Amino acid sequence: MAGLVRAKPACVLGLASGETPLPTYEELIRLHREEGLSFAMVSTFNLDEYVGLDQSDPRSYAAFMHDRFFRHIDIDTSSTHVPDGSAEDLDLACAEYESAIIAVGGIDLQILGIGADGHIGFNEPISSLASRTRVKVLTEQTRQENARYFASPDDVPRLSLTMGIGTILEARALVLLATGEHKADAVARAIEGPLSAMVPASAIQLHRRAIVIVDEPAASRLALSDYYREVTAAKAGLGAIE
Ligand code: GLP
Repeated sequence: MAGLVRAKPACVLGLASGETPLPTYEELIRLHREEGLSFAMVSTFNLDEYVGLDQSDPRSYAAFMHDRFFRHIDIDTSSTHVPDGSAEDLDLACAEYESAIIAVGGIDLQILGIGADGHIGFNEPISSLASRTRVKVLTEQTRQENARYFASPDDVPRLSLTMGIGTILEARALVLLATGEHKADAVARAIEGPLSAMVPASAIQLHRRAIVIVDEPAASRLALSDYYREVTAAKAGLGAIE
């Protein structure tokens, strides 16, 4: 990400909320503070947001991004975009989000986390692989997983706005991050399982520049991990990984 920002100062980053990318944001903040990495011309688009939470609500993804990343760097906050889950007309807000991405020339690099059920953004199982930004009903599993951010599980919104899988696949490069044993099954199904709407993250198999970064526990159910190590070693120093 830092390399992209240096090479293309007006680049467009697709960002994810959740715990997984936090060390990434922390490192970018460090590079900003200590090495002068500037985000002054960068635009960002986040994957998703809860419906019914205002951007000032501390439980919203908009507030999360501001608190954990944007306020620590020199980005112009008018260039940071998160779907508006408090909009009166949600369908219109989704259509405008798609238009805003197109207006800046598309997303250069999209960061993705992965849900234990294989979701990316809030694209829950059986999401259309061609879907665009829209309203999605959250599964009970996702609401339980995200309950830690709310006073009680009943407080977790039932609806979300999320970039569609079709929207995500249009980014010029994808980087999926996963850490921890609880993600191992979803990671294996996304990378090595059949392409299936039941595992929305498996859609990254369709992208020609998708990079997956996992720790050992998240990689523990991969069948071909020895081969991936070989490939990584063979490609070291060869430049861009296709
Ligand atoms: C959440 C978010 C996703 C996120 C995923 C994993 O429900 N909607 O965008 O990538 O689940 O979250 P975490 O990184 O906290 O495990």
